[in-house]
Amino acid sequence: MKVVAFNGSARKDGNTAVLLKRVLKVLAAEGIETELIQLAGEQIHGCTACRACFETKNQRCVITDDKVNEYIQKMIQADGILLGSPTYFAMMSPEMKALIDRAGFVTRATPDTLKYKVGAAVAVARRAGAMTTFDAINHFFLISQMIVPGSSYWNIGVANKKNEIETDTEALKTMDDLGKNMAWLIKKLKT
Ligand SMILES: Cc1cc2nc3c(=O)[nH]c(=O)nc-3n(C[C@H](O)[C@H](O)[C@H](O)COP(=O)(O)O)c2cc1C
Repeated sequence: MKVVAFNGSARKDGNTAVLLKRVLKVLAAEGIETELIQLAGEQIHGCTACRACFETKNQRCVITDDKVNEYIQKMIQADGILLGSPTYFAMMSPEMKALIDRAGFVTRATPDTLKYKVGAAVAVARRAGAMTTFDAINHFFLISQMIVPGSSYWNIGVANKKNEIETDTEALKTMDDLGKNMAWLIKKLKT
C-alpha cells in the first residue's frame, strides 16, 4: 500500500509541506508506504490541448522535458494520492494546476486508470481562498472516479510565514484525522 503526495507550493518545505508531512506521518504509522514530491523550483508545463494522449492511449504526455510523466506513473502505481497547494490569488498554485491538467487528461485517455484510488486535497492560505483551492483539487479526484475521505474539518490551514502553520492546531488535528481516515479507507479497499 502506498500514498504519493505532491506539494504544489513554489516554496519548498513551507506550510503546505508541513501539513502534508503530518498526514504522511500518520499513514506511515499505519504501515502505508509514503512519498512526498515537492514541485518547488521545477518547470512544469501546462497542458497544450494537443490531445495526443487520447490518440496514443499510452498513459504518457507528449511533453517530455519535465517530470510530469514520472509523476503520472507514481499516481498510477499508488493506492492513494494526496495533493497539497497553497492558495495563490484564491486558487491552487500554477504548478499544481499544470500537474492536474496533464495527469487528468492522460489518465482519462485510458478508462478507469485512477478509479477506486483514494484522493485527498490539502490547502493553505494566509487569509482567504483555501476552500476554493480545496474544492478545485477535489474536482480532479471526483471526475477520476476516486474515493475521497473526509476529516474532522475541511483539510485547510491558515498561515503565511514559513512554519507558521505549526500554530494552527486545528489544522494539525485535521491532518492527523485525515491520515487515519485515508489509512482506514485504503485498507478497506484493499481487502
Ligand atoms: C503569489 C501568491 C498569492 C497568494 N494569494 C493568496 C490568497 O489569495 N489568499 C491568501 O489567503 N493567501 C495568499 N497567499 C499566501 C499563501 O497562501 C501563504 O503564504 C501560504 O502559507 C503559503 O504556503 P507555503 O508555505 O506552502 O508556500 C499568496 C501567496 C503568494 C506567493
